Amino acid sequence: MSRSTRILGTGSGLPPRIVTNADLATELGARGLETSDDWIVGRTGIRQRHLAAPDVTSSQLATEAAGNALQAAGLGPADIDLIIVATSTPDYVFPSTACLVQKALGVEQGAAFDVQAVCAGFVYALATADSMIRTGLARRALVIGAEVFSRILDWNDRGTCVLFGDGAGAVVLGAADEPGILAARLHADGRHESILRTAGNVSGGAIIGHPFLTMDGQAVFKLAVTVLDQVGREVVEEAGLQLADVDWLIPHQANVRIMQATAKRLGIPTSKVIITVDRHANTSAASIPLALDAGVRDGRIQPGQRVLMEGVGGGFTWGAVLARM
Ligand code: UT7
Repeated sequence: MSRSTRILGTGSGLPPRIVTNADLATELGARGLETSDDWIVGRTGIRQRHLAAPDVTSSQLATEAAGNALQAAGLGPADIDLIIVATSTPDYVFPSTACLVQKALGVEQGAAFDVQAVCAGFVYALATADSMIRTGLARRALVIGAEVFSRILDWNDRGTCVLFGDGAGAVVLGAADEPGILAARLHADGRHESILRTAGNVSGGAIIGHPFLTMDGQAVFKLAVTVLDQVGREVVEEAGLQLADVDWLIPHQANVRIMQATAKRLGIPTSKVIITVDRHANTSAASIPLALDAGVRDGRIQPGQRVLMEGVGGGFTWGAVLARM
């Protein structure tokens, strides 16, 4: 059994097509739906999003992100014995997106499976991989958040379709003797399942239920701010540290107002918050690893620094991982 798990590399996979708020306003306007750059930026901080071409899948974006993370770690497919993909927009009902990524990368050993915890999916997957590495079930893992959320958006609902984007982010984890992942905490409360969901499925060869995302935005907003504060405190305490010891806060990137409110409640200055929601919009399970990779690659996040990652989303699910880079 190893004592700890370290993040050895990070990577991103973003579809090349960028759609600005102005582009969306024109597109929606042509169908009689009014929106504006001012409204979207003012309410959410989002300025643009990447949208995948119709034939691009979560597994393809995940494979790109994983390849970049492996390169950053100086490792190859033969080094990986666990792949976990967090996604709510899998390629298929089955096999899992993780198995498709495994095949695409040429990984021929170990376990591969998906985690479904919506926007908290990445922290769920990270905590799961950390546990498996510390108990000796795996030695080196790829943990990926990957989404093509544009597929489950109702483009006639201006209250939701302007909020999301597509993309994937990945980390490579490895067993280590010195501390990497310092603590993790996961929560769910299914009583709130109806405030954010895509309540459809396939059955008998047809779509049943409602195949588009629906959300009670204000209910999600309020709950998110409350639980992100609570779980941030829990995980820092579990690690035996203080909030002042956190070098970077990476909350789920849904709305800059939620992130600012969370940082304020935790007493963490906004200068320590990594924000990518302006560029990527809400990419659900991909948002935290995309932000982590952005912070690592632009040189803000340095080795030895402590990063607090916090996810929250449908289910209702939430969780946090505190990692030393
Ligand atoms: O991944 C986790 C899940 N998601 C979240 O964390 C999102 C949480 N919620 C939010 O971020 C916010 O609640 C929203 C950004 C979704 C909405 O902001 P809000 O300040 O709660 O606005 P609202 O829903 O109360 O809507 C205000 C107004 C309404 O018009 P009336 O009724 O006041 O006349 C909406 O119809 O804004 C209108 N509106 C829009 N106007 C222009 C809603 N969507 C749009 C739009 N463009 N795209």
